[in-house]
Amino acid sequence: MKILLIGAGGREHALAWKIAQSRRVTKIYCAPGNAGIAEIAECVPIKADDIDGLVRFAKSNACDLTCVGPELPLVLGIVDRFSGEGLTIFGPTRGAALLEKSKVYAKEIMRKYGVPTAGFETFGDPAKARAYVKEKGAPIVVKADGLAAGKGVAVCKTVDEALEAIDLAMVRKIFGDAGDRVVIEEALSGEEASILAIADGKNWVILDSAQDHKRVFDHDCGPNTGGMGAYSPAPVVTGELLKQIEREVISPMIRGMEQEGYPFRGVLYAGIMVTKNGPRVLEFNVRFGDPETQVILPRMKTDLVEIMEASAGGKLAGRTIDWLPKACVSVVLASGGYPGGYVSGKKITGIETAKAAGTVMVFHAGTAKKGDAYVTSGGRVLNVVGLGGTIREAVTATYEACGKINFEDMHYRRDIGARAIGRVEEELP
Ligand code: AMP
Ligand code: GLY
Repeated sequence: MKILLIGAGGREHALAWKIAQSRRVTKIYCAPGNAGIAEIAECVPIKADDIDGLVRFAKSNACDLTCVGPELPLVLGIVDRFSGEGLTIFGPTRGAALLEKSKVYAKEIMRKYGVPTAGFETFGDPAKARAYVKEKGAPIVVKADGLAAGKGVAVCKTVDEALEAIDLAMVRKIFGDAGDRVVIEEALSGEEASILAIADGKNWVILDSAQDHKRVFDHDCGPNTGGMGAYSPAPVVTGELLKQIEREVISPMIRGMEQEGYPFRGVLYAGIMVTKNGPRVLEFNVRFGDPETQVILPRMKTDLVEIMEASAGGKLAGRTIDWLPKACVSVVLASGGYPGGYVSGKKITGIETAKAAGTVMVFHAGTAKKGDAYVTSGGRVLNVVGLGGTIREAVTATYEACGKINFEDMHYRRDIGARAIGRVEEELP
């Protein structure tokens, strides 16, 4: 089989690594890929949102299956286009991808099908949004409706902060038309987890849990990022809670989307807040998470290519996924200044030394090749990923390897997995 993988980050490097293990795969192309992915796949310089270019490439190279990493091509309707051309592709149609593209739509679907989420109202008029915030008081959460590169959510401690967030999104339009409408919702507290399911329109398989670390600094301080590290499984999600999330979130969403006329195929990613009253959905994504994928796939024993094909072909019924009974941790090594401005082109040393012990893998997120050397080419540069018998073992191996890698102004969090270790070891007799 020939596979076309779309995307360029650490998530796509992990996908390429996993796809390459399938006995059925003979060739992987990645558009556009990065320097790490280039070791496994043939990288082709087509951008992820160049749908025409991707269709032409998949056709002329007779690709048997296309796997989409990022949300943008999905929201642009790549699945509809590929399917229309008779090409097999793994992911949701444009209609189903609205669950990620529009927070207003996602909340309305959740309300309609009784999926537990924060209480909310939606607004297209800033005056009404302001009045609602004043009536409800703080803390309160203001979310721009559309895609805003992860920056469209403001968790506000005061009414003034919320009024400012409404002004930025709806009046000053800092997210463009993504801020034409907003969702204003109740602030929830608890621990977050990411629950992913792969669906075929009717049936689904649920993946083991993961937890992301979104803030840039230790102890969840500083601004939000694309994700500074992750681990899987997330001890906060007990087996019983995972079943509850499957029953109360995944099942009604898959049935609901089918009823809406937009059957969901591909990855349905639920960002969950585990509150004292049970799980509540914070958001849906319609793709694999980054960096969750980097810790979920190393634990997956089942052939992912078969699952993706079954999803695209409506044949997931009766499928299951087997997991390694191990913990997996990923630490993101980031450029100085990230998530703000940063300088690229810094020479990276120590990747081979870090891998030599045989206990970790290194997935590239933002790297390029300059002569024989790797250089930085993004905010998130590398994901160091370790497996262990326990979460503590995985954390130790991962951080030991991180210490061997260097580039100028590199920074990373030192507390990835700390909460999970606390939870697991507290529960020991
Ligand atoms: P989202 O993109 O909707 O997942 O929001 C980004 C982050 O904002 C989440 O990971 C949470 O940390 C936080 N957040 C979103 N919604 C809420 C909420 N209703 N209550 C508290 N925190 C929230
Ligand atoms: N890790 C968050 C996301 O993939 O959106």
